Amino acid sequence: MGVEWQGRISIVSLVKGSSLLYSSDVKICVVGKGGREHALIRALGESASQPEVFCFPGSEAIHEIEGAGKVEAHDLDSLMSWMTMAGIDLCVAGEESYLVTGEGLANRCENAGIPCWGPPFAGAQMEASKEFAKEFMQRHEIPTGAASGCADVEEARAAIAGKYPTVLKFDGLAAGKGVAVCPDEVAAEEFLQEVMVERRFGPGRLLVEECLIGPEISIFAAVSGPEYLILTPARDYKRIGEGDEGPNTGGMGAVASRQLADAGLMKKIEEEIVAPTVAGLEKDGLNYKGFLYFGLMLTADGPKIIEYNCRFGDPECQAVMPLVSGDLARFCFEGAKGNLKPDLLSFSEGWSVCCILASAGYPESSRVDDVISGLDEVSEARIYHAGTKKVGDDWFTNGGRVLAIVAGGETREEAVVKAHDEAAKVTFDGSQRRNDIGRLHF
Ligand code: AMP
Ligand code: GLY
Repeated sequence: MGVEWQGRISIVSLVKGSSLLYSSDVKICVVGKGGREHALIRALGESASQPEVFCFPGSEAIHEIEGAGKVEAHDLDSLMSWMTMAGIDLCVAGEESYLVTGEGLANRCENAGIPCWGPPFAGAQMEASKEFAKEFMQRHEIPTGAASGCADVEEARAAIAGKYPTVLKFDGLAAGKGVAVCPDEVAAEEFLQEVMVERRFGPGRLLVEECLIGPEISIFAAVSGPEYLILTPARDYKRIGEGDEGPNTGGMGAVASRQLADAGLMKKIEEEIVAPTVAGLEKDGLNYKGFLYFGLMLTADGPKIIEYNCRFGDPECQAVMPLVSGDLARFCFEGAKGNLKPDLLSFSEGWSVCCILASAGYPESSRVDDVISGLDEVSEARIYHAGTKKVGDDWFTNGGRVLAIVAGGETREEAVVKAHDEAAKVTFDGSQRRNDIGRLHF
């Protein structure tokens, strides 16, 4: 029986623990439509303060299963008008794109007097521009790989200087496809041709970066001006194939636990990476509010930053959210107003494992319209929808990453077994799932 994925959001607001700042009928609008937003909306809905939640653009699953309200809008302008008209109290940026559209979602919210959990346009450059982020890290002496910015192929070749492996990064949003770790000249020339000559992602500069070696870890902080709270760390599995083989994807799964990084490592990460980043954001007047994602490589010389993202990770969010309890809605509301209140959240000590079911052809393409079976059989895991659509009573594939199946346990093994057992109950033609999610250690 699908108890875990029944709608949980009460449209009627029944507030416990309200305060002058957090009124009794808070309305939240989440921006995004994927599995990450599904997980965020579930967590916001499970908040002790029981907000009324809306989602733009949302998905059938977010609206139908979670009961999040629909938003009558089609772009940033109409979203702003709708939020003002609907009396939205808090906007939560799930995905990043609107943060850097036009003036930026958070800037527009500020003008409209709506608190926004997500950074202003300038702060969102931490993700939108890799060169901006690299200069930020260099300016604030935050450990990262050496890099140089290049305008064209000739400058890139000069910066690579025949040293391989090298890492090439397109300086802009490229739907996760703008980075190539190139083992040799052939791979580098292929990427340069596609990105800097054919301009697959449009105009933009390129970063040639030192190739770092080591296990990767995703660290998330909730940032509100000078204050921050580090959330449960996670590790995502980016490659399509088992053993981390094959092309990169949006993420084929994730494991989250406080135990992923011991106290010594977390202290180092906090002191050398998180604290100086938050201090740098303040010093540069970026007025950052929202989740900040640190993609780290644990190198032999210590943790170094690969990238910042100005949002939660996907699928890390789906793994982390079930470990969070308390009042996420009120936490984001207060944080967006500049009052970070860590006491509003608590984190469970256990493990959480998220298995992604991807459609046939992913990541090169994605097949749609395969009927999904077995959703009702899932009893001990959460189901978050990413690329699905409903026709009649049936759910069908409608994107590359289709579903996230997330289970928890006191031990890693317990969470791994449960997540895979539950995920195996859900089937559709051409379904792809990695069997080593959570199992493959660093
Ligand atoms: P990104 O799109 O920035 O998340 O990068 C995608 C992946 O490329 C990362 O998860 C890493 O596995 C790899 N990568 C990025 N930068 C580096 C680097 N400097 N050294 C080695 N691998 C990297
Ligand atoms: N999991 C990687 C990302 O969200 O970018």
